[in-house]
Amino acid sequence: MEKLEWNKDFETNIRIIDEQHQRIFALLNEIIDFCEQNLISTIETEEVIDELDNYMTLHMMLEEYYAKRYKFPGYNQLRTEHEIFKNLYKTFRYYFSRETRPKELSSGMIEHINIILAEWLKNHIFTIDKEFTVFMQDKNIEII
Ligand SMILES: [Fe+2]
Repeated sequence: MEKLEWNKDFETNIRIIDEQHQRIFALLNEIIDFCEQNLISTIETEEVIDELDNYMTLHMMLEEYYAKRYKFPGYNQLRTEHEIFKNLYKTFRYYFSRETRPKELSSGMIEHINIILAEWLKNHIFTIDKEFTVFMQDKNIEII
């Protein structure tokens, strides 16, 4: 499985957003590591999956809060994309839940990680997050 590598193209120039995105990359990479070592049924993996879940929730709340407060025109799209992520993650969690997780990594799990990685996260940062952060910077609004 391909890991996520941070590079300048992902930068939005808003420090807190970039830091959070980097942390999200790191957590996803940890999950990939666990999968590659076939440690999918461990407490450690479960903890990282919980952590990413909580962290993403906070991150999306922060973006939505500012987007709504300053009337970002793409607010609805931002929310829709966040909903898509939540649904993807729900399925992803199901694969790893105590009752259902298999001993071996299944192709469904790999596909899911790849969808979240390649199609959702990267695309989200490159499109709506960039639009949002440019909007905030044009208005000189600081996100803290
Ligand atoms: Fe984001």
